[in-house]
Amino acid sequence: MRTETPAEIRLEDYRPSAYAIDKVDLDIRLAPKAAKVRARLSVNRRDGTAPGTPLVLDGDDLKLVGLKLDDVVLGADAFEATPDRLEIVAPPADPFMLEIVTELDPDANSKLMGLYRSSDTYCTQCEAEGFRRITYFLDRPDVLSVYTTRIEARRTEAPVLLGNGNLTATGDVPGTDRHFAVWHDPHPKPSYLFAMVAGDLALVEDSFTTASGREVKLGIYVEHGNEERCGWAMDCLKRSMRWDEEAFGLEYDLDVFNIVAVSDFNMGAMENKGLNIFNDKYVLADPDTATDQDYANIEGVIAHEYFHNWTGNRITCRDWFQLCLKEGLTVFRDQEFSSDQRSRPVKRISDVRLLKSHQFPEDAGPLAHPVRPRLYQEINNFYTATVYEKGAEVVRMLKTFLGDEAFAAGMALYFRRHDGEATTIEAFLSCFAESSGQDLTQFALWYEQAGTPVIDVDSRYDAGTRQFVMHIRQQVPPTPRQPEKQPMAIPLRIGLVGPNGEDLEYGGIGGVDVEGDVLRIAEAEHKIVISDVAVKPIPSLLRNFSAPVLLESNLGEDDLLFLARHDRDPFNRWQALQTVALQALIAGASAAVEGRTPDADPQLIEAFASVAGDESLDPAFRALALQLPGEADIAREIGSDVDPDAVAAARNHLRRTTADSLRSTFRRQFEALRDGENYSPSAAQAGIRALRNTLLEYLAHATGGAEGDLVRKHFEAADNMTDRYAALNMIVHAGLEGRDAALSRFYDRHRNHALAIDKWFTVQATAGHADTLDKIRALTAHPAFSFGNPNRVRALIGAFATGNQTQFNRIDGAGFDFVADTVLALDERNPQVAARLLSAFRSWRALEPVRRAAAERALRKVEAKQNLSRDVQDIVSRSLQ
Ligand code: PHE
Ligand code: ZN
Repeated sequence: MRTETPAEIRLEDYRPSAYAIDKVDLDIRLAPKAAKVRARLSVNRRDGTAPGTPLVLDGDDLKLVGLKLDDVVLGADAFEATPDRLEIVAPPADPFMLEIVTELDPDANSKLMGLYRSSDTYCTQCEAEGFRRITYFLDRPDVLSVYTTRIEARRTEAPVLLGNGNLTATGDVPGTDRHFAVWHDPHPKPSYLFAMVAGDLALVEDSFTTASGREVKLGIYVEHGNEERCGWAMDCLKRSMRWDEEAFGLEYDLDVFNIVAVSDFNMGAMENKGLNIFNDKYVLADPDTATDQDYANIEGVIAHEYFHNWTGNRITCRDWFQLCLKEGLTVFRDQEFSSDQRSRPVKRISDVRLLKSHQFPEDAGPLAHPVRPRLYQEINNFYTATVYEKGAEVVRMLKTFLGDEAFAAGMALYFRRHDGEATTIEAFLSCFAESSGQDLTQFALWYEQAGTPVIDVDSRYDAGTRQFVMHIRQQVPPTPRQPEKQPMAIPLRIGLVGPNGEDLEYGGIGGVDVEGDVLRIAEAEHKIVISDVAVKPIPSLLRNFSAPVLLESNLGEDDLLFLARHDRDPFNRWQALQTVALQALIAGASAAVEGRTPDADPQLIEAFASVAGDESLDPAFRALALQLPGEADIAREIGSDVDPDAVAAARNHLRRTTADSLRSTFRRQFEALRDGENYSPSAAQAGIRALRNTLLEYLAHATGGAEGDLVRKHFEAADNMTDRYAALNMIVHAGLEGRDAALSRFYDRHRNHALAIDKWFTVQATAGHADTLDKIRALTAHPAFSFGNPNRVRALIGAFATGNQTQFNRIDGAGFDFVADTVLALDERNPQVAARLLSAFRSWRALEPVRRAAAERALRKVEAKQNLSRDVQDIVSRSLQ
């Protein structure tokens, strides 16, 4: 057992820093094992700070090699230095210059925070608290400084030298083989947005003219040989820049915008001012190595990082509790961008699927936390689906709640009022309270209360009074440290669907505040009366998923199947069919637990047939409607005493019976659909491929591998990664003949493309077969596997832990033990990646008793290890609480 408990940081303890740092001058002399950083900080005592108050700077693993104050070397009793902290005991009352020299070892930096090397390129990662691994600093987002950065390196080692802002000077260092570049960023920024890159990189160039006529040079820097794979990312960047001007009136504000792709990166990408650094998986794409999903992800992430320039950089967070101020808002913005570029309903359905599969389980387990947490041990563990995805839903609800106009006015006010500041959720909400004249006190609970609210709607039609009466109850479940909850403000968008499928007119709505077709639920219970309804309607509830809640209602399967056919809200058409399938799968899982074969549901199969063949619908939509809820979604819906084998049995059974009964129809549709002569990642073509692959996936799972030839042919004939990877998944997961041959063909073809080889690892890690774990163990010894590359670890072990319900949750506990052992081994190298992997245990308490006990043993083993990182310690202790 660990004895010391790590410190908890609390929102209510926030205080401004005693000192400000207005200017930062950095001189970075790069070398693989001994880089020198000289930081000259212009320090100012803040109003209200008593003269002589000590200046305490953050550090992390630093080696101090020089220290001067106003150009005079500081005596030993004037400061205290440890690797983690530098205190100037009695600083001058007037502004002063502090010069700090540190020495770093980029090669030894395996945490990938601070200054490190990725395939020989020097790069930095400073969010959230990585700048303190470069120099001592007030490493907190409310200290804003103007940075000038001089970078120096051997010319042959690093011909490219990049920093934030604009390039102001370059040159050779006389008498050496070294050169330098100076970058100046005029926009004051927090240290987490600092970045520099140096290496031998290829440049793909373009330019963009802003609405007001400013010419911006765009650059994407990649390893040599990857230039051809940057076209899509560049196209996405230019469309993002234009969209932010058109949708929000926001222009870019520097002369250059650079993106660098690196292969070793803990997260997706980073919005450093004017110098975004990306995990290369969100930059590089060509049809042979990237799937349609990869293309869509690149579009979303490029946009997301670009949009941070205003929501995050120009207006930043006062403290890390406000993380959702930039992240939730920026996800909302990138979702809107993608919706405008592609199909809005399809994008909405995909986003909700992601929310339900990632955020809902988080919110239902021991790691649940509010969108704005009030307490943390390790901030890196709060870059979560709750902060990002639920955070985006909260912004979306604000728009639904207030209407488009008041929302737009609130955003405009936010940008006007807070530009250049580090601010809070309260300040953000005030802008909307002002623009709408509404009281948002109750709405603010979305930021405070964790847990997914459950809305129960019980409705009846009274033909005599022509009234439609709805009893609505809401309940927010208890979550860690929040046993009691208050009722939330929930926008519930509804429609009454008449017998011919059209929305019915009605007189008025009583018992609740209304905005258009949105009911503003505010109480624990409402009795809502809708008057003058001519015939019995079927209510379409929570249209477009107007709030991130779990909906329960007294609608029966017939009602839902009616909505699946007729609702004019496409989201609810999709949702209705999902709900029916989910109910069938839950019943099937209980049957499997009792050793019975689940009953077939001919109506459901008939509904699948009808969407599959409905050519009035977008193929992408049809593909989504045909996809069964995932095993983890079914488990989440069951909620307790889950037996993942029973869940998988039920799902496999429904998939097989659907495939067997619709085999010839699906086959005919598969053959008839054509995605076009030349590959394009367009939404239209991608939708057709998605539908074909969804149909084929059913066929692959028909009894006895009857359609194996068709699947193998699809694999062999594929001229793009989407089809090739889809087919490979089918061959491997359905256990079709030719599995090993297909795997080696795929490997040989893509052996030089790391991102494609990641897929090769993932397809094997996610097979729901009894020998999968043994295979994964063997794959960790494969020459292409490395614990040092986060993408590779996630592709094999992360995919197993989060994407393989039956094998991770093996009843003998071997899956848990394997992941726990991996976490322990990885923790010494890279705590952030280790902690994220450990969070795969987030739903362990919902398992049936035998598996639950096995999961707990694995977690206890992690807990017992000495010297855990704070990252892993935090996750394990909250998981067990
Ligand atoms: N701020 C980044 C984003 O959302 C995510 C990130 C966090 C990257 C921490 C690196 C480290 O866009
Ligand atoms: Zn972000």
